[in-house]
Amino acid sequence: MNSKNKPVALIVDDEPAICELLQLTLQRMDVDAITAGTLAEARSAIQSQPVDLCLTDMQMPDGSGLELVAYIQQHMAQVPVAVITAHGNMETAVQALKSGAFDFVSKPLDIVYLRKLVSTALKLRQNREAGGARGMTRLFGQSQAIEQVRVMAAKLARSQAPVHISGESGTGKELVARLIHENGPRADHAFVAVNCGAIPTELMESEFFGHKKGSFTGAVADKEGLFQAAQGGTLFLDEVADLPLHMQVKLLRVIQEKAVRPVGAAKEIAVDVRILSATHRALAELVRAGKFREDLYYRINVIELHVPALRERKDDIGLLAEHILERLVRIQGRPPVHLAPEALAFLQSYAFPGNVRELENIMERALTLAEGDTIQAPDIHLRRNPEPATLVRPEEPPAAEPEDMDDRTLPLGKHLGEIEKDAIRKALEQTRYNKTAAAKLLGMSFRQLRYRIKKLELD
Ligand SMILES: Nc1ncnc2c1ncn2[C@@H]1O[C@H](COP(=O)(O)OP(=O)(O)OP(=O)(O)O)[C@@H](O)[C@H]1O
Ligand SMILES: [Mg+2]
Repeated sequence: MNSKNKPVALIVDDEPAICELLQLTLQRMDVDAITAGTLAEARSAIQSQPVDLCLTDMQMPDGSGLELVAYIQQHMAQVPVAVITAHGNMETAVQALKSGAFDFVSKPLDIVYLRKLVSTALKLRQNREAGGARGMTRLFGQSQAIEQVRVMAAKLARSQAPVHISGESGTGKELVARLIHENGPRADHAFVAVNCGAIPTELMESEFFGHKKGSFTGAVADKEGLFQAAQGGTLFLDEVADLPLHMQVKLLRVIQEKAVRPVGAAKEIAVDVRILSATHRALAELVRAGKFREDLYYRINVIELHVPALRERKDDIGLLAEHILERLVRIQGRPPVHLAPEALAFLQSYAFPGNVRELENIMERALTLAEGDTIQAPDIHLRRNPEPATLVRPEEPPAAEPEDMDDRTLPLGKHLGEIEKDAIRKALEQTRYNKTAAAKLLGMSFRQLRYRIKKLELD
C-alpha cells in the first residue's frame, strides 16, 4: 500500500507505554502514528507534517491537553482532536468538548471504543475529500441569525459532543439535528429521532433499551431498543424535557457507561451513539424547578445551539414563503405561484407563534385560496391571537388550525384579528382613506374591503 495515502495520527502522551499501546492499536488499523511527549513537541510535529487526527493526554509536563485542543482549533480546525481523560473526570471531558475537542476517551483505555473513535474521526477526512458540507442549504434563510446556525451546525457536525438544540416550536430544531447528523462522520449510519413525550411511561425503558422475550407480559420476542437502532449513528431525543425523572436517571447512566441493558437481559450491550436533543421548553429553568435532573442536563447540554424564532428574522419570511410555495406547487403539479408584495408585508407584520411550521400551514391554505399565479394578502389567514409564544408554555402547542377554509367569498375570513385591522387601517391612512386605492394596496376588491371594514367595525 502506498504509505502516502495512509492516514497519520499524532499521539501526545508523556508516558511512553501509553504512546506505544496507542501506536500499535493505530498501526493495526492501517494508520501511521507519530508521537510527542510534550505539548511543545506536539506543536512542532503538526507544524512540520499534516496529520488527520490527534490523540492527546490531558496532563502534560508543560501544560494541559486543553491548550493543544485550543491551538489546533485555532490553526488547523479541520483536524479532530480526541482527549484522554482520567477515569470519571467528566468535568474535564465536558470542558474539552466545549473548547472544540472531537471526542474523549477515559482511562483505562478501552481499545474497542478507541478503535471506533479513530475510525469515526478518520471519516471526517473522507467526507472532506468527498466535497465537504452537504445539504446545509436545506436550512433556508439569509438572515445573519440563520447563517450563524448554519455555521455552528456545520462545525458541530464534525464533533461528537452532545448538542442541545433550543428554540420555539416549529423553528426547525429537528431539521438542524438532521443536518448535524448528515454532515458528520456518522452520516452513513442511522439518525433515530424519538419524541420523548410520546412514549407511555411504562414502555419507556423497553423502547429505549430493548427487551428480552418473556421479560414482561407482551414481550413475545426479543426487541431492540432505540439506542441499538441508532448504533454507530445519532439518537435525537426530541422534547427531552418530557422525560419522567426515573427515565432521566437511566438515560444518564447509559450515556455515561456507553452501554445499555435490555429489560430482562443479564448482560449490557455497548452502544456507540451520538446524542442530540431538543426541546421548546427552557431546560435550565426546569432544572432550577427540580423537574429536570441537573446531572443529565449537564451531560446533554455540553453545547447549546439556539434556533431563533421566525419573528426575530423577518428577512427570512419572504425567502421561506417562496421556497414553501415552490415545493407545494411542485407536489401539486401546478404552475408557479408567487407572493404579492402586500401579502409579504402582511406576513412580515405577524408574530408567528408557530414559526416556520405555521408559515408552511399558512402558505398551504393560501395556495388553495389563491386564484391565478399570485397570492394576495386576503388569501392569507392568520391566527386570531398573534401574541408570540414564549419559551416556557408547553401547555399550549401553537399549531395553526384550519378555520374557515372554504369561506371564499369573504377572503379575509372571520378570524383575522388585530393584525388585519392594523393592515387595513394602515392602508387607509396611506391612501388618505381612499378605499379604492387602499383595496388595491391590500390586493383585494373594493367590495371586499368595504365588507371587511364593516365586519371588523373599522368604520
Ligand atoms: N430554515 C428552514 N428552511 C427550510 N425549512 C425549514 C426551516 N426551518 C424549519 N423548516 C421546516 O419547518 C418545519 C418545522 O421544522 P422542525 O420540525 O424541524 O421544527 P421543530 O423546531 O422541531 O418544531 P417542534 O418544536 O414543533 O417539534 C419542517 O417542515 C421543516 O422542514
Ligand atoms: Mg420537532
